[in-house]
Amino acid sequence: MTDADRPEVAELICLSTNEWYQRHGRPPVFPGGPSVTTVFADIYEALDPGCCVVAEDPATGRVMGSCFYHPRPTHVSLGIMNVHPDYTGRGVASAMLRFITDFADRERKPVRLVSSAFNLDSFSLYTRAGFVPRCVYQDMWLEVPADGMKDLPAESGRVRDATPDDVAAMTALEMEVAGIRRDKDYRHFIENRAGFWHAAVLPDSAGGLAGWIVSSAHPGMNMVGPCVARDAATALALLLRELDRHRGRQPVFLLPVECSQMVRDLYARGARNCELHFCQVRGAWQPFRGISMPTFLPETA
Ligand SMILES: CC(C)(COP(=O)(O)OP(=O)(O)OC[C@H]1O[C@@H](n2cnc3c(N)ncnc32)[C@H](O)[C@@H]1OP(=O)(O)O)[C@@H](O)C(=O)NCCC(=O)NCCS
Repeated sequence: MTDADRPEVAELICLSTNEWYQRHGRPPVFPGGPSVTTVFADIYEALDPGCCVVAEDPATGRVMGSCFYHPRPTHVSLGIMNVHPDYTGRGVASAMLRFITDFADRERKPVRLVSSAFNLDSFSLYTRAGFVPRCVYQDMWLEVPADGMKDLPAESGRVRDATPDDVAAMTALEMEVAGIRRDKDYRHFIENRAGFWHAAVLPDSAGGLAGWIVSSAHPGMNMVGPCVARDAATALALLLRELDRHRGRQPVFLLPVECSQMVRDLYARGARNCELHFCQVRGAWQPFRGISMPTFLPETA
């Protein structure tokens, strides 16, 4: 992708995703239109300049598809993948995916992504390319009361804002829980040049962190996560405290299906299911030794 392609890619992400969901009887994911989906190129180019592959129609020069990727020390993540409805079923996504898996193979790294369990087109695309679904998430949304979240656990009181000095401990915790590291993502969240991120941590008694969480208040991507925590009680304390920052809004978050107590707590607070996603990994994978909640911006399973 060149800078000149960015408006076309924002339009493609909006049109392709909305069309897919509407064709399958669901509401559009980006009702705000392409002015909202510019956030992907904005954030991804700030984080990883030059890491977006596009497929161009050789006859017209039109962008047929786009996919972002994020090389990290331990792995490569795959960001949002889209093909224009006029060009689906012709191998465009497979070709872009091959570009990224070839890159990861040269770097000898696994590739990780989050894929919708509703979307057999993308599920097949990834599993045909050697990805294995490793974890299932319930996507939930919650209408956060305008006067704030009630009955927070005591642990939520120990949550504090993250600072750049927390990056080393955030990295150590994610290595312990998920076996991956992405220090520059954490720095990006904490520096918050985009103005819609917030990151918080819950210290442990040994001078490290028991958990950390990030949220995005962007109008097109109001999500809580990623979150990494040693246990479900820590993840819940972080999640409820972070949700409280989104008063009057309806953020989405992805909970691992095994976290049944956490899911029940969120149901009791009015949370609703809206989708299911898989953590998909191509290559080496270690089972999570704790809780890992992904997001779609930036995408990392
Ligand atoms: C998902 C999407 C990217 C696929 O793009 P595409 O260019 O049509 O995909 P391809 O033509 O490369 O096909 C992908 C592969 O899946 C296979 N496939 C599709 N449906 C399948 C099914 N039900 N069972 C098995 N394989 C299937 C195709 O045969 C192809 O494999 P092949 O190249 O080995 O034959 C496109 O539909 C899209 O943009 N959807 C909306 C946005 C979206 O869902 N993005 C993914 C978010 S993670």
